[in-house]
Amino acid sequence: MASVLPLHPYVDAERYQEERRAIFARSWQFFGLSADLSRPGDYLAETLAGFPLVVVRDAQGTLHGFHNVCRHRGGPLVSEAKGRCDKELVCRVHDWRFSFDGRLLAAPGIDLGRDMDVSGLGLYPIRVESWAGFLFVNLDKDAAPLADALGDLSRDSWTLADRTARLRHSHPVACNWKIYAENHLSGYRIGGEFSTKTSSLDRGASQIKMSDGVLSDDASGSKTTEEHHWAYIWPNLSFTLYRGVLLIEAIRPTGHERTEIDHIFLHAPEDPTVDAAMVASEDVTHDNAWACEKIQKNFAAGVFQPAPPGLAPDLPSDWFRDRIHKSLSLGQSL
Ligand code: FES
Repeated sequence: MASVLPLHPYVDAERYQEERRAIFARSWQFFGLSADLSRPGDYLAETLAGFPLVVVRDAQGTLHGFHNVCRHRGGPLVSEAKGRCDKELVCRVHDWRFSFDGRLLAAPGIDLGRDMDVSGLGLYPIRVESWAGFLFVNLDKDAAPLADALGDLSRDSWTLADRTARLRHSHPVACNWKIYAENHLSGYRIGGEFSTKTSSLDRGASQIKMSDGVLSDDASGSKTTEEHHWAYIWPNLSFTLYRGVLLIEAIRPTGHERTEIDHIFLHAPEDPTVDAAMVASEDVTHDNAWACEKIQKNFAAGVFQPAPPGLAPDLPSDWFRDRIHKSLSLGQSL
């Protein structure tokens, strides 16, 4: 298993474009909660790794996903992150109208009824699947089902149960998404800035279960309790259950040196523990962000070279870097 990456995937804008295509356009990405799309016409929109996307529920209850890109001149079909549309998706620029299954229905000033084949002017589709109340999308029409990506990740562990309340926070961090992900996953936290504040969310001592697409604590491990449970889903999503509060953390790249950390805390209404869990998590995020921004600058300065593999073995981070190697054509640059 590789345990180092060369520096250019962390600092190079062209490499980021390769990652958008090779990783984020081909992996299942967390998109939101199924509960937010309960009625026909309800939609959610999000930009993932630079791809503007929308998911809408039709009158039969089926979910449809598309690039949020009109086939006329590329305008947006919806402009809010969440909302409801009336029977059709209507482009915000010149009002071309599309059915919820993506067909072009009407275009103002153009007679589509006669001698006009518009079958090739439907919206660009994406895949949508849900699991345990969570929505995922995949831009690759040939991708394996979501269930394959999740492997034997227990559905029961993450049931929403009565966690109907939520808090949402977003943190911009000036670093490459991989620096944040590696720091997030690292069990190598001895001393330094992290020693005290991560103790409440410590993952390093847990036994780790590893599959191609998922890292998780071992349910049979001594450190795993109903109070504390975690999983990381390739490439950029973690679930942490901490004292009854479920934290979903998505590490969203917004550029080669910019990342957005999206947190959703799901909890029971009136749960008094949510504030403490959130403060603990936000403390960890703040410290991670501080370190990752410094690391990004040092990587970009061009002096640092990665330490030899094996010097400081770190199973979760090694798993992550190995997945990066498999996804990108990094070739002999190690
Ligand atoms: S860009 Fe959508 S109708 Fe013109």
